[in-house]
Amino acid sequence: MDIVKTFNQIRNSPHLKSESVGLVPTMGALHQGHLALIRTARLENDVVVATIFVNPSQFDDPDDLVSYPRDQERDLALLEQEGVDIVYLPSEDEIYPEGFDTWVDPGAWANKLEGVVRPGHFRGVSTVVTKLFNQIQPNRAYFGQKDGQQVAVIKHLVLDLNIPVEIRVIGTVREPDGLALSSRNQQLTPQERASATVIYKSLLGALQVFRAGEMVAEKLRDSVLDILLLELKQEQIEYINIVDPDTFEDRQNLTGTSLILVSVRFGKVRLIDNLTLS
Ligand code: PAJ
Repeated sequence: MDIVKTFNQIRNSPHLKSESVGLVPTMGALHQGHLALIRTARLENDVVVATIFVNPSQFDDPDDLVSYPRDQERDLALLEQEGVDIVYLPSEDEIYPEGFDTWVDPGAWANKLEGVVRPGHFRGVSTVVTKLFNQIQPNRAYFGQKDGQQVAVIKHLVLDLNIPVEIRVIGTVREPDGLALSSRNQQLTPQERASATVIYKSLLGALQVFRAGEMVAEKLRDSVLDILLLELKQEQIEYINIVDPDTFEDRQNLTGTSLILVSVRFGKVRLIDNLTLS
């Protein structure tokens, strides 16, 4: 496995001349969710590039950036085990050199939900992902459905800017009790970790209500809220939205495919999850 740290090194890597290159962008602190992306990329491409870069421009809270979990040694060992060909570990200067001042500003769908709670978040994500696409020029890039709004933002970005890369979306990997894997789970106290199982339970509850024939989005939203309130206080719930998965417009009626997205907060730790209804 090659470990490269600069744009010049990665651009000149002979691996990138291969027939198909799959890119898996990450911020490290890898878990089985990340590894599911890597394994799919491994199956579908001649060469797999993983990147680890804790992107400062997508953090609206400096404390969150400082406390973001990092364990490079363990990450590299996991990536080696998965047969990754290249790990790209750019420094902040490599991505944002002095004088850097061009940003990719996504549209209205990025100014809802996560975009409201974390102003500028998707501008940071869109900019770094565009840079990684340009630097590595992969045939395919892999993202997790866990970050459902991020997937929508990146699909629009690639379409709008004509970036020649296929976006592959991998289903959410969960703990046995249903909690979506996230690097942030390790920041929860044991008590919070136990309560956090209510997030997926609330989504499954909504799915049941939907399957029983409920077509009014507001009613489904209420059912999610009722389940969340069994474990959480109202002020811990940041949003529950039911949207069109392409436009992120709120749905009134549940015709066609919809996405329910939930965000809850345990102190400074925010957890998000989503489920598709179709
Ligand atoms: P990060 O949070 O490290 O996630 C990297 C990728 O792993 C994302 O595509 C994310 O959706 C996916 N992922 C995380 N948890 C998952 C789970 N439980 N199941 C399946 N996939 C999961 O998302 C980012 O980094 C950054 O925003 C990034 C795209 C790297 C840009 O900086």
